Amino acid sequence: MRDRTEALMANERIRIVPSVLPADFARLGEDVQALEKAGVDRIQWDVMDGQYVPNITMGPNVIAACRPLVGLGFEAHLMVKNPDPMIGRWVEAGCELVIVHAETCLHLHRTLGSIRELGARTGVALNPATPLSAVENVLDLLDLLLVMTVNPGFGGQSYIATMEPKIAAARAMLDEKAPDVELEVDGGISIATIGAAAAAGARTFCVGSALFADRDNLGDAVQRLRAGATEGLTTA
Ligand code: DX5
Repeated sequence: MRDRTEALMANERIRIVPSVLPADFARLGEDVQALEKAGVDRIQWDVMDGQYVPNITMGPNVIAACRPLVGLGFEAHLMVKNPDPMIGRWVEAGCELVIVHAETCLHLHRTLGSIRELGARTGVALNPATPLSAVENVLDLLDLLLVMTVNPGFGGQSYIATMEPKIAAARAMLDEKAPDVELEVDGGISIATIGAAAAAGARTFCVGSALFADRDNLGDAVQRLRAGATEGLTTA
């Protein structure tokens, strides 16, 4: 474990993590390569099973097909009713980070331990109504905390600004008890909202529709988002 100061400094870094939900699924490989070229930090795969959320997206085979095309890290955001039976499949497909929803895990401590045993990093996502207390007893098994700023299931939704106190409380909890843990927000993040989310304490930003809205200028869009987050930090 890094020393506290080193961990806190490392987590000050701004990370832009595109969701491929709004990508062109007819040319997904080209889109992930364009994202790498645009200078993003990781790629998030929004996995949906039509049970936990009223939408279905992709399985491990799609992720595995894209894995050799880029050097970027992949994170699987599992919006599925029961993640345990397939945990290993996402790691085998090439995801270095597996994010489960606390709301879907009967035994969250055990699930996170199984992800670590597979050699992957762990993430827990909390829906807007789910309190931070859901993770306070598993911080030792956590590598990333994902605070949802929309209700899961679809891209293009509006940012829920009332999550900002929760983001700030998460920042305070992690700074005090788990400075190595990355704090990510997901949902409705755009140039209009990233500053407020950064000021509240987020450092990793999952962005879907706002990034792909400027599909032909992804690099500029990534730079604008980074600048917006940094500006939010300076005004915090
Ligand atoms: C919701 C998804 C979205 C996606 C980002 O289930 O998790 O939040 O990643 O989509 P945008 O950026 O369009 O809100």
